[in-house]
This record gives sequence, structure tokens and C-alpha cells, in this order.
Amino acid sequence: MDTKKLRVGIIGAGGIAVNAHLPNYEKCLEKIQLTAIADVAKEKAIAAAEMFHIDSAYDNYEEMLKNEELDAVSICTPNKFHAPAAIAALEAGCHVLCEKPPAITVDEAEAMTAAAEKAGRILTYGFHFRHTQQVAALKRYIDADELGDIYAAQVTAVRRRGIPGWGVFTNKELQGGGPLIDIGVHMLDSALYLMGYPKPETVLAASYQKLGNKKGVGVMGDWDWENFSIEDMARGMILFENGASLTIETAFAANVEKLDVMDVSLMGEKGGADLFPLQIYQEKHGTLVNTTPAYLPKTNEHELEITRFVDACLTGSIPLSTPEQGLYLQQIIHAIYTSAERGEAVKISEL
Ligand SMILES: NC(=O)c1ccc[n+]([C@@H]2O[C@H](COP(=O)([O-])OP(=O)(O)OC[C@H]3O[C@@H](n4cnc5c(N)ncnc54)[C@H](O)[C@@H]3O)[C@@H](O)[C@H]2O)c1
Repeated sequence: MDTKKLRVGIIGAGGIAVNAHLPNYEKCLEKIQLTAIADVAKEKAIAAAEMFHIDSAYDNYEEMLKNEELDAVSICTPNKFHAPAAIAALEAGCHVLCEKPPAITVDEAEAMTAAAEKAGRILTYGFHFRHTQQVAALKRYIDADELGDIYAAQVTAVRRRGIPGWGVFTNKELQGGGPLIDIGVHMLDSALYLMGYPKPETVLAASYQKLGNKKGVGVMGDWDWENFSIEDMARGMILFENGASLTIETAFAANVEKLDVMDVSLMGEKGGADLFPLQIYQEKHGTLVNTTPAYLPKTNEHELEITRFVDACLTGSIPLSTPEQGLYLQQIIHAIYTSAERGEAVKISEL
């Protein structure tokens, strides 16, 4: 055993663990040791352990945390288990990279934040879009005040028929919701990050279940339409304490032209921007100009997320995504679902 290397464990051996976390931890083997993996389906833990040369496989993460003296853990379970697994790992003295969304409820996100503070360990979330070159480049423009005060944003995460045909993404009990909490949360986080995470105040939203509960064309495979318990569309408007506003549109299925749109539009006093693809809109010298990058480095955002997490664990640097931001995000998600359910605007402070 090399005690100088960060001992890394994985909780949940499904899609995101095998396709994003493990291959990128493998690129850090000079700094880490892939020590153990746990999945309630032990055969999945064993298969991943074989594929990535991980020393031990468990069917119970608590046992893994007790036995393995881990330094860092990735949490890659369905959303329902994020909070209990993250809190257990933090209490066991581990730094935690938890997949998005932070959790299902605000109480859970609060408990995770408190556990990280108490343990003095890193808690960060898998918002990998933050690590894209588009977000990084636009952040540099915003930091140089090229957009001025950003007072309006539009967030889009809309698929035409992209209801996942695998996993538990259509199960409200295990995921907490549908496109809003699964894909909308990525674009919402990117927008809020670029806006400086303003404090949300009031939310008005609506959600629908119109297409997912019927048999239909599945661009992402055949989904379980008979047990479809989530919204297939959620839309909302958020007002912030600083006067800014943000509209959000999310769908796994909607009758729209494009198969898949993920984008953030920002509008500021000095300029505006779209994120995917990156374009900046300004008025300069009496001319309306658009700026598009001629070149952006090709990087892998999942790799950057993992390598930055590893470096943060080893150096104490602060990761891009913080527990406090995760909590704000969870409050907004909760407020959107609550407003949609009540059919009226809600104040975050009153929830
Ligand atoms: N960053 C991204 O773009 C991205 C993409 C996909 C998924 N995710 C997130 O990753 C998480 C997992 O998604 P996935 O696509 O890998 O799902 P998945 O269904 O493929 O894998 C989840 C795994 O967790 C295991 N599991 C369930 N309960 C467990 C428990 N209590 N302890 C240990 N293991 C348990 C399951 O057996 C399964 O193998 C979700 O929170 C999802 O939102 C993020």
C-alpha cells in the first residue's frame, strides 16, 4: 500500500461512475490509488473493480468506509442516496465529490453542507459544465466587466424526445423529479455561476406531464412510460434579491424543432452572451458586434472535474463548486417544484 497516495473510493458503479469518474481517476494514478468501490448490486461493483483494477468491491458503502481508510469518495448513486452517502463519507473523514444534483431536498443539502463544515472536508458537486472551455472563457469576459451588470438570463435544457430509457431517471422517489433536477440543474448552475450566484427571492413555475406517460418515439431508448412519475417539462421564472431575473425551460420531451438544446443566454448592461455555442453581443464604437471564439482548447470537462477534485484534496485549494452554491441551487429547485404544485408564486424565505 502506498500511503502517500490519495485513497479513493466510489459509491455507485453505474453509468456515470464507469464512463466519467473511473476513466478520469485512472489518469491520476500517480497521485491516487483506486482503493474500493461499493454498489448495492455487488456484481456491478465487482465488474467495475475488474475493469479499473480497483482493489476491493463491496455491496455496502458503510462497510467500505469502515474498512478502507479512504481519503476521497465519489458519489455516483441515484439522487436519493446522495445525502446519506455523502454524510457518511464526510463523517468517515473523506473529501467528497458528489454527482449532481446535490440532493433531493433542501434539508438534505443543508445537512451535507453542515457535515462538510463539521468534518473540515471538501464537499463539491459534479457540475461538469462549469469545467467547459465555454464557461471558463465567458467567465473571463465577465470578470473583465465586458457584460456589465447581468440583469437577465434564459436557461434552456430541452429535449424533443430524450427521456432516458435506462436507469431510474423517470422515478420521482429515487430522483426527486425529472428534467429540471436532472439536466436543467446543469444549465441553471452554469448561469448562476456566471451571474455570481445571486440570492434567489421569488419563484413562479409550472410543470407538466403530457408526453412521458404515453408510449412514443424514444430518441434515448424506450422508457418505462407506464411508471413515469416525473414531470416531462418544467418552466419557471426566478427573481433575485439584486433585481436580476432568470427564466428556465426544461424538458425531457416537448414538441419542439430541435432534438436537444442545452444553453444559457445572459443579458447585461454592457453586453450579452450565449454559451453553447459561445457568442458575445455588444455595442462598440457605434456598431453592434458579435464576438465568437476562433479557437477554444479541446478539453474533457469530466477529466478537469476529477483532476481538480484530486488536486483540491491534496493541496486544500477550493473547488469550483461549493456546498453553499449547491444549497442555493437546491432551494431554487424546491421552489420551482413547490410553485408548480401550488400554482402560485413562492418566496424562498417562506418555504
Ligand atoms: N454529470 C452528469 O452529466 C451526469 C450524467 C449522468 C448521471 N449523473 C448523476 O449520477 C448519478 C448516477 O447516475 P447514473 O447514470 O450513473 O445511474 P445508474 O443507474 O447507471 O447508476 C447508479 C448506480 O448506483 C447504484 N446504487 C443505488 N443505490 C445505491 C446505494 N445505496 N449504495 C451504492 N450504490 C447504489 C445502482 O445499483 C447503480 O449501479 C445520478 O445522481 C445522476 O444525476 C450525472
